[in-house]
Amino acid sequence: MCGIAGYIGKNQASNFLLDALKRLEYRGYDSAGMAVLNGENNLNYLKSLGRINELEEKMKKIELNGCLGIAHTRWATHGHPSEANAHPHSDCDENIFVVHNGIIENYKILKEDLIKKGHLFKSDTDTEVIAHLIEEHFKGNLEEALLSALKLVEGAYALAVISKDDPEKIVVAKKSSPLVICIGKDENFIASDSSAIAGYADKVIYLDDGELGIITKDDYRIISIANNNKIQKEHCNIDSDVADLQKNGHKYFMLKEIFESPEVIKNSTRGRIIPEKGLVKLGGLEVLDQEKLRNIKRIILIACGTASFAAMVGEYMIEEYAGIPVEVELGSEFRYRKPIIDSQTAIIAVSQSGETADTLASLEEARRKGALTLGIVNVVGSTISRETEAGVYNHAGPEIAVASTKAFISQMTVFALLSVYFGRIKEMSLTMGKRITEEIEKMPCLIEEVLKNDEQIKNIAREYSKYRNFLFMGRKYNYPIAEEGALKLKEVAYHIHAEGYAGGEMKHGPIAMIDENFPCLFIIPSDSVYEKMWSNMEEVKARNGKIIAIATEGNKEIKNIADDVIYIPKTLEMLTPILSAIPLHLFSVYMGMELGCDVDKPRNLAKSVTVE
Ligand code: G6P
Repeated sequence: MCGIAGYIGKNQASNFLLDALKRLEYRGYDSAGMAVLNGENNLNYLKSLGRINELEEKMKKIELNGCLGIAHTRWATHGHPSEANAHPHSDCDENIFVVHNGIIENYKILKEDLIKKGHLFKSDTDTEVIAHLIEEHFKGNLEEALLSALKLVEGAYALAVISKDDPEKIVVAKKSSPLVICIGKDENFIASDSSAIAGYADKVIYLDDGELGIITKDDYRIISIANNNKIQKEHCNIDSDVADLQKNGHKYFMLKEIFESPEVIKNSTRGRIIPEKGLVKLGGLEVLDQEKLRNIKRIILIACGTASFAAMVGEYMIEEYAGIPVEVELGSEFRYRKPIIDSQTAIIAVSQSGETADTLASLEEARRKGALTLGIVNVVGSTISRETEAGVYNHAGPEIAVASTKAFISQMTVFALLSVYFGRIKEMSLTMGKRITEEIEKMPCLIEEVLKNDEQIKNIAREYSKYRNFLFMGRKYNYPIAEEGALKLKEVAYHIHAEGYAGGEMKHGPIAMIDENFPCLFIIPSDSVYEKMWSNMEEVKARNGKIIAIATEGNKEIKNIADDVIYIPKTLEMLTPILSAIPLHLFSVYMGMELGCDVDKPRNLAKSVTVE
């Protein structure tokens, strides 16, 4: 979703702003723009449709000089992608420039009113009303004008505003969309997230909802939008290492991130497993009253997209090994239902970014109804991590590719940890605790084994890239992986249609589609539902369907029925999804590459969906 950056200091603003926009690319966007104010009080701007390099090319011809500026990557919501709709947006006289992430819900009424007052609009966006509202209320002080404007606005926003009539500041405000301020020496920065600022300074301040910031070259002030009172904010350390943001020799971030999976599991489990005692230690949950944790009678996992499939794996793990009833809910559904929640219900929000609007709104609803709110979040300091009572960080490192891969692997790993954590508080035996934790410890090596099939998977993708429909089938622990495999293929190789199904449901519909042009990808490790899945494969073969199978090493008979077999090592049934997801992620990348798709930034998709 939209990305915001801002700079005020001693250097050329455009250097930082361009770098920040490139780092924010991963959020997904269709256009970009920048406005810079120079010492002679000239406010110049540039916008471009398409990639950041288009903007960069323009900047070579028209220089944006000045030490104060704001910039934006836009992901269209109101108004189609175009230069006119790209941010920054300005008032009638181009004295005030605004960048915005979020949605102004009452923009139509505001716009009609402003037009009646004589304001001239240049775009179809909701954002432009803010620039004109500020113009309407401006009496020489930018923050006062923004405060007055915000009193009239309904909706979600992270905003950054500059004006040549109050030139030595950037004014920012936040409600429901993320914004960070980074404190440097004689220079300050703002951005949608800390990955855009990593390497420029070490300390960040996370703006909370209802806060407005006034940022000058060497100072900042945060006040409450409701009552103008000054707010003291804590400084936090930036978590992202700049090296983490490079591709490390891979063609795409997505490939780099899949190949990081072994390291990711090490980081997600470091210091958290004690195999000799069959125990899991989760510091993030120790802050809670342990009696309250013991008394949890029901868990609701809330997530969107890929995270929701990790949650489904988590549901199976926790129910089987900790004996606690678990439900998985999509954030987009849960927030509008009438959920039944009490104080013995724990809500766990699962989110890589920690910013997904629907997951966040569901969390707030559950908290209002008295549930214990927890999070499994990757981005340190993100809104969900701050809004929950406690939680477990994934420590998967920055995930740049729009489609989530390494965070998914980490989320399933954290669920395995949680199963032992809750299981051992309840009835899980020492022997079982040891078995699971010992096996979790082996996972990085087992994933290394799976990654050795990279070349084979690339060849399979080449062979199958002529097909336009795929069915992914899995059962029990691998049913969510079938869903994830299909989702990834749709996301990354977006000319292909794919569906993920539970093996047992094949006869209830999808079998009708099977013929020689409809390949099926079976996830069939040697587990408790192996025979059942084998019958499904027979049914597909009987209809001339092509089969790619993901099976356990040593299974020779599978070659008699499947056209292609990708092997994964043997592990506990509950942990097989962590291994079987890897070939599916690789398959979708290579299919996307075969079809010439923009793998890291698939069309129309955004990394973190911060609006409804
Ligand atoms: C977007 C991304 C997905 C991600 C989903 C949930 O759709 O493209 O990869 O799974 O959002 O995001 P979250 O940050 O909450 O895990």
